[in-house]
Amino acid sequence: MSIQAGGLQVPVSVIIPAAGSGRRMGGGTAKQFLPLRGEPVLVRTVRRFSECPLVDEIVIAAGDVEATRALVGHMPKVTRIVQGGAERQDSVWAALQAVHSRPRIVAVHDAARPLLTADVLEGVLQAAADHPAQVVAVPVQDTIKQVGPDGVVVATPDRSTLWAVQTPQVFWADVLVRAFRQAIADGFLGTDDASLVERIGVPVRVYRGHPGNLKLTTPTDFRLAELLLEEEARQC
Ligand code: CTP
Ligand code: MG
Repeated sequence: MSIQAGGLQVPVSVIIPAAGSGRRMGGGTAKQFLPLRGEPVLVRTVRRFSECPLVDEIVIAAGDVEATRALVGHMPKVTRIVQGGAERQDSVWAALQAVHSRPRIVAVHDAARPLLTADVLEGVLQAAADHPAQVVAVPVQDTIKQVGPDGVVVATPDRSTLWAVQTPQVFWADVLVRAFRQAIADGFLGTDDASLVERIGVPVRVYRGHPGNLKLTTPTDFRLAELLLEEEARQC
């Protein structure tokens, strides 16, 4: 399907950057290929999008294209598997160039976040009909300090204004392409996609998600994710 925006049916493409090496996870296998409750992380992540009725196509940026094709190439809506790059931003750009013609809505989602729920996914996609840039985020629970290079606290920003940003991050395709072109021209490397869009002056809105949409970064995150999946399975 697609999204109804301004009287038009706008198709939805999903980009999944899955070309990282999982340095902080350690071990010989990149984390997107590791089993989580018996099933590879990447399979779980892709399925969340294959099953969403609003999604039209899924483009994956991979480190090992052949291994990734063997694992998820047959899954519904997976149209392209492209070679990723050295940085996450390079991988997203490679996939963005392989996305079908515009106008279109593009959702970028980390391969390493297999616990995204259908309600948040559908909610943030629908919200993108009215706003060109939407990011899933949760209010921070810890007090955050800004710390200088000497290890001394510089400031304590008001916690009520701070959100921890996750993925999906959802954009109108023309906005995202413009943001990437500008970042490349300026040599800017961001830690998320929205930071590129902020730089070109397009307002980015937060869409409230769940803290359970973990990014699997360390072995502790894996154990936590297994517990959350067990709970999810019990509720079904
Ligand atoms: N990613 C990517 N291309 C890169 C680096 C990262 O597609 N060059 C992807 C990862 O596969 C992951 C997502 O971006 O799905 C978020 O990155 P991160 O959690 O940092 O994963 P890794 O880079 O693999 O882990 P680490 O930073 O610990 O090496
Ligand atoms: Mg990384």
